[in-house]
Amino acid sequence: MVSRVIPVDPFDLVIFGGTGDLARRKILPGLYRRMAAGQMPDTARIIGAARGEIDDSGYRQMVRDAIQTFIPKDAIDAKTLDSFLERLGYVQIDAKGDGGWSDLKAKMRSGMVHAFYFSVAPSLFGTLAERLHKFDMAGPDARIVVEKPFGHDLESARALNDSLAAHFDETQIYRIDHYLGKETVQNLMAVRFGNVLFEPLWNGQYVDHIQITVAETVGVGGRGAYYDRSGAMRDMVQNHLMQLLCLIAMEPPSRFDPDAVRDEKLKVIRALTPVEPHHLVRGQYDVSGTEPSYRDDAENPRSRTESFIALKTHIANWRWAGVPFYLRTGKKLRARTSEIAVIFKPTPHSIFGEASSAHRNILSIRLQPNEGIEMFVTIKEPGPGGMRLVDVPLDMSFAEALGPDGEDVPDAYERLIMDVIRGNQTLFMRGDEVEAAWAWTDPIIAGWETRGDVPKTYDAGSNGPEDALMLLHRDNRRWREIRG
Ligand code: BG6
Repeated sequence: MVSRVIPVDPFDLVIFGGTGDLARRKILPGLYRRMAAGQMPDTARIIGAARGEIDDSGYRQMVRDAIQTFIPKDAIDAKTLDSFLERLGYVQIDAKGDGGWSDLKAKMRSGMVHAFYFSVAPSLFGTLAERLHKFDMAGPDARIVVEKPFGHDLESARALNDSLAAHFDETQIYRIDHYLGKETVQNLMAVRFGNVLFEPLWNGQYVDHIQITVAETVGVGGRGAYYDRSGAMRDMVQNHLMQLLCLIAMEPPSRFDPDAVRDEKLKVIRALTPVEPHHLVRGQYDVSGTEPSYRDDAENPRSRTESFIALKTHIANWRWAGVPFYLRTGKKLRARTSEIAVIFKPTPHSIFGEASSAHRNILSIRLQPNEGIEMFVTIKEPGPGGMRLVDVPLDMSFAEALGPDGEDVPDAYERLIMDVIRGNQTLFMRGDEVEAAWAWTDPIIAGWETRGDVPKTYDAGSNGPEDALMLLHRDNRRWREIRG
């Protein structure tokens, strides 16, 4: 199946922090791929802005190196790369002072979309917004893109929101959560709201519980300083897992448009119940062979920051009353796998003589690896010898459906940047959503800080601390297997 590429309008995209890690790893390679796919108009221009003293040709060389590093060789076409680099320019800028801002303004062309990507530390968000305003670049055509972490708690998120709102309207602010750009995450909405099959069962009458797992094999080496102030709750749960939870649990929006979708997500966040201390497990990975422990990686021998978290929460509304939502995420686990699993209730009565609880329908939505959807149904085990039942998956892998190796599936960043240019905010977080997520997260964090909880250690390559297993065992349930 060949995906349809709809070109976007001409644009000037400025990347503040244009020489930084995210720009080199994700943003610029993503833009190159969109150009190779034929989505970028000939007149589009990309301007890197940073502190470094380089010129346009130095910047182009840096971007060439980045693309050759982060995109496989056989996916790079030399001519396309040359013409991509021709669209690039560079401005040396002093984010806190006045240096370079007039040069930047001079480069912006009128009559097209102006997008400003703040790929910088959040402490600079307010300053950049204020400078753009001062140098007359915050007009109605301007859009700003900001990255997580969006605040450290509710108070700092509010302050950030205020600092942006002083110069930009909410319709001009694009808060990225790259999980929303993942193919399967959007497919989750297509599956829920494009089929009649699921909605009648999508409630506490038929759903036993829901599990959301984002397991990673990487540690925090290299970014320990950031991570140690953050931990899994702030780094993953407050944003990525929260977004997954919203999409799986929200009411059907009336339209697939930004405010209709975000209004429904907000209602879910506001209906989340507080997490009881005994419904919360925090963990920290230990030394394993020659692999360092979390505390080594974080260079903090007494750190109490969690690299793993598992919790149980509920959504206090009619649809989900009585349905536990179990969330789990961690670093250095057994395999890299992200999955949302909807575990349905057993049949009310088994006519086959087996305990009806022995079999369940499970809908598993796999974000990675091998994005796709699996539906477990109960069938008869083949062969003679009576009616023995077995659960088998109806498996739909998007890579198979969309072409070999899923090559038609754009990376989350590619899709989201193109949405910014199109002016579509559906897959971006609204300010009130982010604040509501912090309002739920803050008391949980305050609780463990007041109690002085120490995270449980777990072996690298395991499923996380034993206590996380107990969280479900106590409810007579079990986690889905973490498998790559
Ligand atoms: C980032 C977190 O937002 O998401 C990282 O800061 C995490 O700690 C990453 O590793 C996971 O993203 P993905 O797309 O690899 O699942």
